Amino acid sequence: MRLLLFLLICLAAPAMLAAQQSFDPYNYTTDKHLHADRCAVVSAHPLASLAGVEVLRQGGNAVDAAIATQLALAVVYPEAGNLGGGGFLVARLHDGRTLAIDYREKAPGNAQRDMYLDSNGVAQTRMSLDGHLAAGVPGTVAGLFASHKYARLPFAQLAAPAIRLAEKGYAITAAEAAGLNRQRENFLRLNTAPTAFVKTGTWKTGDTLVQTELAHTLRLIARRGMKGFYEGETADRIVAEMKRGGGIISKKDLKSYRAKVRRPILFNFRGYTILTMPLPSSGGIGIQQMLGMVETYPLETWGFHSAKSVQLMIEAERRAYADRAHFLGDMDFVKVPVQTITGTRYLQDRMQTFTPGRASQSENIAAGQAGRESTETTHLCVVDQDGNAVSVTTTLNGGYGSKVVVGGAGFLLNNEMDDFSVKPGTPNMYGLVGAEANAIQPGKRMLSSMTPTIVIKDNQPVLITGTPGGSTIITSVFQTLLNALVFGLDAVNTVNAPKFHHQWLPDIVQVERDFPDSTQQALRQMGYEVVTRSPIGRTELIRIHPGGKIEAVGDKRGDDSAAGY
Ligand code: GLY
Repeated sequence: MRLLLFLLICLAAPAMLAAQQSFDPYNYTTDKHLHADRCAVVSAHPLASLAGVEVLRQGGNAVDAAIATQLALAVVYPEAGNLGGGGFLVARLHDGRTLAIDYREKAPGNAQRDMYLDSNGVAQTRMSLDGHLAAGVPGTVAGLFASHKYARLPFAQLAAPAIRLAEKGYAITAAEAAGLNRQRENFLRLNTAPTAFVKTGTWKTGDTLVQTELAHTLRLIARRGMKGFYEGETADRIVAEMKRGGGIISKKDLKSYRAKVRRPILFNFRGYTILTMPLPSSGGIGIQQMLGMVETYPLETWGFHSAKSVQLMIEAERRAYADRAHFLGDMDFVKVPVQTITGTRYLQDRMQTFTPGRASQSENIAAGQAGRESTETTHLCVVDQDGNAVSVTTTLNGGYGSKVVVGGAGFLLNNEMDDFSVKPGTPNMYGLVGAEANAIQPGKRMLSSMTPTIVIKDNQPVLITGTPGGSTIITSVFQTLLNALVFGLDAVNTVNAPKFHHQWLPDIVQVERDFPDSTQQALRQMGYEVVTRSPIGRTELIRIHPGGKIEAVGDKRGDDSAAGY
């Protein structure tokens, strides 16, 4: 009898725990800087970080928490969190294994190289940005299930916080209210069915956003696994939405979508091992190149944000982005000379043309150009008490992606097709040209800049980081790593100190508004065009100190928030 009771409790426990609500979705605060002894999650939204910690408390590991946090972000951060987009996960497990999971969207089977050109061959980039035709085949749900192999808890338990948040609603932040109000006209114009994101009147801080249709889709996924999204009712709804809105994603595209386990990029930088994402992200190659180009220079002597340090970093950024534009694309479709362009000899040669105190000219560096990217993506970091470390960046591409919500299913579709070179070799509407390696082909993954990264020292993870920010992602992660590992900044300043960005073309240095004036002046005297711009990225960071103490920092630039214990 006692044994029977014990078995019943064991069987019922996950369901009881799943129903447990460990945080109040109508009353929560943001924690920008957290110290913890055992585990931590940091993400773009306080409720998503709390969802991650909820499953850690239930016995989940860092991968469980990363899955629960991503699902919650799909509800509470519709601007970039998603079911209808894609992403990358890198992890370093406590037994030393390293992982890179690619769940980037792919071009639909009916995609064509010139699908965004008009009859005169002119690129119509609004078509790759807004509406049904802008969407690539979503990868996120496949990525969650590919990651789940390394998790401990049943998937349904990981989805429970997200389902609750969608079904019962949560109080939106000021930034979310502003974002939804800004997109109102686009939601009305681009959707074929009513969506939860449009209400009578305007959204205000603290309003409750309920997403009943999204809750239903999440339940289907929790119950049926991959088939709950890529087949059956949800797939039918996606395809019906495509038919209503002139999109091309088919049932075959959905059913055949697979996440890919890639060999992660691992390289040494001044005694640290950097673990990061390979192609189809350009991010890992980019930071390997930039760090390789600056490694032998005495940056710590020159100092943080000194004109000398910043100039060297700008020139490394310029050269890495020139290579990105020319060489990089989905390696399953094009040949990319990765070994060569990340080799020490090559990187030293690239810096032969660097002249201290004088700006290089992009026109003299190389030919080609990186595709234009917009900035709405999202990052999360997790560490658990066993030392499993996970770094995930996911995206819809632009804010709210294509702005198309799948009718009856309640989730937004990406506009990731714009990350392809819409017309290789020819300037697009912004005067940029793209490269052949990243041209559209059916089934190909568009080049990304997402750079989820983990730093390892003495066989332990010491830093977990990443950020949104489109083409600025790679330079932000580059600067975050140098801030922490070379300039010796503390965790908060590593994240919040003003950032700068150079991406080869246009040949300008973009700086945040609080970037030091004196350095800007010195750069101008060296011949750089310096322009101030809106905030760069929203970096998340977890630092694990010797002895195991954890410090988690959410970027000051958004609603980003840490949770843990
Ligand atoms: N859509 C942004 C990126 O993948 O880089």
